Amino acid sequence: AERTDIDLALFGALGDLSRRKLFPALYQLDREGLLHDDTRLLGLARQDIDQEAFRERIHGSLKEYVKSSELDDKVVARFLDRLSFLSVDFTTVEGYGAIAEWREQGGQQRPLVVYLAVGASLYGDICRHLEASGSLDEQSRVVVEKPIGYDLESSREVNDAVGAVFPESRVYRIDHYLGKETVQNLIALRFANPLFGTQWNQNHISHVEITVAEKVGIEGRWGYFDEAGQLRDMVQNHLLQLVCLIAMDPPANLDADAIRDEKVKVLKALKPFTDDMIGRDVVRGQYTAGTSDGTSVPGYLEEEGANTRSHTETFVAMKTEVSNWRWAGVPFYLRTGKRMPEKLSQIVIHFRQQPHYIFDPDQRALAANKLIIRLQPEEGIRLEVLTKDSGLDKGMRLRRGPLHLDFNSAFPKARIPDAYERLLLEVMKGQQYLFVRRDEVEHAWHWCDELIATWQDRDEPPRRYPAGSWGPVASIAMITQDGRSWYEDY
Ligand code: BG6
Repeated sequence: AERTDIDLALFGALGDLSRRKLFPALYQLDREGLLHDDTRLLGLARQDIDQEAFRERIHGSLKEYVKSSELDDKVVARFLDRLSFLSVDFTTVEGYGAIAEWREQGGQQRPLVVYLAVGASLYGDICRHLEASGSLDEQSRVVVEKPIGYDLESSREVNDAVGAVFPESRVYRIDHYLGKETVQNLIALRFANPLFGTQWNQNHISHVEITVAEKVGIEGRWGYFDEAGQLRDMVQNHLLQLVCLIAMDPPANLDADAIRDEKVKVLKALKPFTDDMIGRDVVRGQYTAGTSDGTSVPGYLEEEGANTRSHTETFVAMKTEVSNWRWAGVPFYLRTGKRMPEKLSQIVIHFRQQPHYIFDPDQRALAANKLIIRLQPEEGIRLEVLTKDSGLDKGMRLRRGPLHLDFNSAFPKARIPDAYERLLLEVMKGQQYLFVRRDEVEHAWHWCDELIATWQDRDEPPRRYPAGSWGPVASIAMITQDGRSWYEDY
């Protein structure tokens, strides 16, 4: 495999994301032989610990987050050897000289990748100080995590601050959903298969469903989450990215900007919400006490650190539309929430019925194809088709059955990599197509801001749903009012 030699400086190296995702992902890349022999990793954090203690911590996080069968002593030793640590106060330029020194020690001029696994309020300071301390050059790249701002205005401030140091072509905005193998598969599925390519529009598709359900609750992040809510935390980024990949026109090629231009067109075509749609086409929910995996769990307002009067939503369901030639009149039903019965992300494309129906009238409701794209868990693609029910006594009775591609059993040897592995690899290669461009973030915020403003005007509490359920009853009514239901029989 082609391996690009880089230096990686990771800000927030002792934080949660680094511990749970980034170091394990970097380790996996090393194990797969995808890290260059000379690649060096510099951890940065405010805490003052020494090199050895840092390596110990990272070793600990590998033991915790990498399967033991995938921990290879030799690779672990090689990996830990790449690591150095610097304790730096991110907000003052003084400490940054040490980063420039670390760069010089490395000898050769390899590109520097700066990964900001810290709050967006620090992005501006860090970028400026890196530049002022002479740590950057024409090849340096920066990787930033969501949330980028809190609304359109604040996201512009963050993007301006980063953009004052790094040109857009060297900014990598992470939406980790784009790193998921099955999400990238949407591009292959749509644009490599003529069967789907020709059917992918309002002539043939009646509606689209996207569910991103999480089993977990707030997990000690109450403060952050309560400022954000599920719309900002999940819809503004992950769900809208899925909508883009489903709805976009075919890009001219796989270049980053060819793809991102098409995604932006989708975001611009999203139908705005108006006041009369609230409650009917958009439902906000908040979980109350209930059960998860058979044990009782507290409600959102009883979680640790909770403000017991919060109106923040932990669930959103909405019916939206991409108002353009391809999709006019096709509802996109989206729902996402915390404390649902299971962790499940899936997209269901419902095809229209045939124009003329010749079978048993009782079976009419069966007669449409569905394409189910399972993003997680049990990654796979399933197409529901109708066949004749077998047996002499069945006449022309129809039966619904799946054509099923389960990635784990179809490709048993292929490990499905974590999203961060793919994304880190793409940054190293300098490829941006899996990263979000500035205008995408801003159009997504614009659309969400309008909805949030409407919510705020009304100031209604969210609807309640017990932990361990599929959300407020109103979210079921939202789809049944159209004579449809959320897909359940995978
Ligand atoms: C993050 C959100 O972006 O995505 C979290 O901030 C959420 O609240 C997470 O739990 C879900 O990601 P995944 O990969 O587990 O579906």
